[in-house]
Amino acid sequence: MEQQPILTVRDLSKSFPGVRALDRVEFDLRAGEVHVLVGENGAGKSTLAKCILGMYQPDEGEIHLHGEKVCFSSPKDGIAHGIVAVYQELTMVPYLNAAQNIFLNREPLIRGTGLINHRKMQRDAKAILASLSCADIDTKIPVKLLDVAQQQMIEIAKALSFKPRIIVLDEPTASLSEREIEPFFEQVRMLREQGIGIIYVSHRMQEYHRIGDRITVLRDGKFIRTLDVGELGDEELVNLMVGRDISQVYVRTKNEHSGEALRTEELRDHKGRVNGCSITLNRGEIVGIAGLVGAGRTEMARLIFGIDKPAGGKIFLHGKEVTGKAPSYVVKNGLGLLPEDRKRYGLALKSSIAWNTVAVSLKSVFPSGIVSERKNRKIAEEYVRLLKTSTPDVVRPVSQLSGGNQQKVVIAKWLSAKSDVIIFDEPTRGIDVGAKMEIYALMDRLAAEGKAILMISSELQEVIGMSDRIYIMKDGTITGEVMRNECSLEEIGRAMVLGKEVLA
Ligand SMILES: Nc1ncnc2c1ncn2[C@@H]1O[C@H](COP(=O)(O)OP(=O)(O)OP(=O)(O)O)[C@@H](O)[C@H]1O
Ligand SMILES: [Mg+2]
Repeated sequence: MEQQPILTVRDLSKSFPGVRALDRVEFDLRAGEVHVLVGENGAGKSTLAKCILGMYQPDEGEIHLHGEKVCFSSPKDGIAHGIVAVYQELTMVPYLNAAQNIFLNREPLIRGTGLINHRKMQRDAKAILASLSCADIDTKIPVKLLDVAQQQMIEIAKALSFKPRIIVLDEPTASLSEREIEPFFEQVRMLREQGIGIIYVSHRMQEYHRIGDRITVLRDGKFIRTLDVGELGDEELVNLMVGRDISQVYVRTKNEHSGEALRTEELRDHKGRVNGCSITLNRGEIVGIAGLVGAGRTEMARLIFGIDKPAGGKIFLHGKEVTGKAPSYVVKNGLGLLPEDRKRYGLALKSSIAWNTVAVSLKSVFPSGIVSERKNRKIAEEYVRLLKTSTPDVVRPVSQLSGGNQQKVVIAKWLSAKSDVIIFDEPTRGIDVGAKMEIYALMDRLAAEGKAILMISSELQEVIGMSDRIYIMKDGTITGEVMRNECSLEEIGRAMVLGKEVLA
C-alpha cells in the first residue's frame, strides 16, 4: 500500500535576480524514507531544501505538511514544525566550543537562575556525539580548532538535538572520510527506522544505493522525475541529471614529464601531524596523495604553501628553496592552492566572481596598477566560458553561486595567476558528475601543458583515475609510492589504513 507522504511540495517556483532556481517543482517525502535529491551544480537542490526549511519563501506553489498547507516565514517556523537541517556550508560560530554551538540560544539553565548549566550542556553534547561514534571530539575547545570532518559531525549532532521529524541533509558526507561515513549512515538508518523523513542531497552516486529509498532528479530548476533507488542503472541516472550522454569519466593524455617542479625533504610541522615527508612532483605530472582524513595531507599542503611554518625539513620550488617563505612569495614563484575549505580560505564570498578571478593576479593583469573593471570582467567571462561556470554574469558575489560553481571560481583564480604548480585539495568535493568530469579534463589539460599538479583527495577512485603516481600517507609520513595502474583500489585502500607492509 502506498504510504501517505508527510510532506508534499506542489508547483514550487523560486527566482533570484537573473535565475529561475526552481521552476514548478514537485516533491513528496514519506515518513521513514531517505529521499535523495540529485542534479548538477545549480540544479536547485539547496534552494528546494531551503524553501522547505523556511529559509526562503517560494514565489509560487504550496508546501503541505501532514496534509496541511504551511507557510514558514523563517527557519524558526520550520524547526517549530519539526523540520531541521544540516547545511552544506558549515554554519557554526568558530570561537565557541562544540557544546555551545549545539545548544546555541537554547542553553540549559541552572534551575532558579539565569545561569547556563555548562556541565549539563557538555554532558548532553557528549552523549549526542557518542551516539554518532564521535565521542573523541573535544567539546571544550573552540570548533575552529577542529578539522572539517569533526565540525561537520557537530553540525549533524546539532540537528539531532532538536529531535526532528524531517531532517534535511545537504551534502552531509562531503567532508567525511570513508571511515566516518559508515557510522554516519548507521545513524541515518536509525533515524529512518524511527519514522523520520530524510531529504538527502548528495553528489556521490554510490551513496544513493547505500542509503537512499527514492530519488528525485532536478535539472536547471525543473523537476525531471522521481524514481525508486535501483529502478535505473547509474548511467541512465547520470543521463537524466545532465540531460545528455556521458561516456568516460577519467581521461588522461599521455605526456612527457620534464624536470622537477616541487620537492620536499623530510618536511615536518609543529603539531606533529606531518612527520618527515619527502615527495617530488615533476612538470607535466599529476601526483596523488592518498590517505585517510587526519593522515596529515592538508597540513602538508599548508606547509608547502607557507600558511604554516615548518618545524623541520626543506621545500624546493623549481629547484629554488622556499622553506618557510610566506604564501605571497611562493605564489609569485608559481605555486597555487585550491584549499580543502574553499569557503574559509579560497574565496572572498561577498566579492564578485570577477574580483575573485583576479584576486591573486592583480599585478600581472594590471601591471600599471590601475584596475580596469572592463578588462577584469572580460577575463572573468573568459574563465566562466572555459570552465562552464553557471552564472548569469560575473558581477554577482560568489556567495550566490552553488557550491560546485564556487569551486570553479577558485580554479579560475589560480589559472589566471598562471600558477604552474597547483595543489588541489579535495578538488571535487560537493561537485556534480558533469562538473567533476570538466575538472578532471581541465587537470589533464593543465598537466599536458606542462603544469605540475599535486592532488589530495579522499575519493580514492579519482586519485587512482587521475594520478600518474600516488603517494600513500599515514600518520604524517609517506608510507608508500605506486605508479599509475600498478595497484588496485583495494590494495591502496588497505595501505592507507594499515601502512606500507601491504604494498611490498
Ligand atoms: N541567494 C541566492 N541569490 C541568488 N542566486 C541564488 C541564490 N541561491 C541560489 N541561487 C542560484 O540558484 C540556482 C540554484 O542554486 P542551488 O544552490 O539551489 O543549486 P544546487 O543544486 O544546490 O547546487 P550545488 O550542487 O552546487 O550545491 C543557482 O543558479 C544559484 O546561483
Ligand atoms: Mg547545494
